[in-house]
Amino acid sequence: MSVELEGNILVTGANRGIGLELIKQLAVKMGGEAHIYACCREPEGPGAEALREVATKCPGKITIIKLDVADEDSMSTAARTVSEKIAAGGLNLLINNAAINKPASPAPLSATTKKDMMDVYETNVVGPFVLAKVLLPLLQRAAEKDSSAKDNGNKMSCRRAAIINLSTMVSSIEKCPETFSTAQMYPYRTSKAALNMLTRCQALDFKNHNILVAAIHPGWVRTEMGGAEVR
Ligand SMILES: NC(=O)c1ccc[n+]([C@@H]2O[C@H](COP(=O)([O-])OP(=O)(O)OC[C@H]3O[C@@H](n4cnc5c(N)ncnc54)[C@H](OP(=O)(O)O)[C@@H]3O)[C@@H](O)[C@H]2O)c1
Repeated sequence: MSVELEGNILVTGANRGIGLELIKQLAVKMGGEAHIYACCREPEGPGAEALREVATKCPGKITIIKLDVADEDSMSTAARTVSEKIAAGGLNLLINNAAINKPASPAPLSATTKKDMMDVYETNVVGPFVLAKVLLPLLQRAAEKDSSAKDNGNKMSCRRAAIINLSTMVSSIEKCPETFSTAQMYPYRTSKAALNMLTRCQALDFKNHNILVAAIHPGWVRTEMGGAEVR
């Protein structure tokens, strides 16, 4: 069944990997009222060429926004820019996709530094935390606008107002004995476990505003982070 998307969607780390593919897939399903804010660190740089091509193919439908999720000022500026563009509308869906994995997999303990821990935590946990906070008024606006959703029994949904945090199976405390031997990745695993808790807290907190918050594991995907072969 073909489902047409409406509303405003913001995706971080949209210039490559899963983020870029999300933009491509969402663009195909966009209805007349939908708009995508595709965020990346260097919109003008060579690393965003593929994203610029997708945006060019969908005139007026995709806006590329400069956003570094490890930089608070960058997140505030991006939130202001999106708010001005959305005007009276709200933000229906925030997808926190950007993340890093340092040092490179298999990232054994011996190769992992305190700086790796701090950098990965800053990007993978603090970034999604700050971004959700600065975009909350826009998400609330979308949730309030769509009061008809409640009447249809659709109290919370990605169509109304939602945050999706990209997590991973290797963040599972329960599954750690099964997955640890494949790659230690202390910074990545612990940051994503913290992201899971952030998601749980936000879900309870933002429920009062009818904003859905969920974490998903996309499965293994062949990207720069995922690597060439399934592990
Ligand atoms: N691939 C998998 O198998 C897999 C499995 C489970 C979960 N995931 C999750 O899925 C998400 C996407 O993964 P991926 O495989 O697509 O990774 P990827 O190919 O390495 O892409 C990561 C993206 O995040 C961006 N990014 C990194 N640091 C950033 C920052 N400070 N500010 C803004 N953007 C930043 C990168 O932009 P630059 O080009 O500027 O570096 C890039 O666009 C991640 O959250 C990851 O944990 C992936």
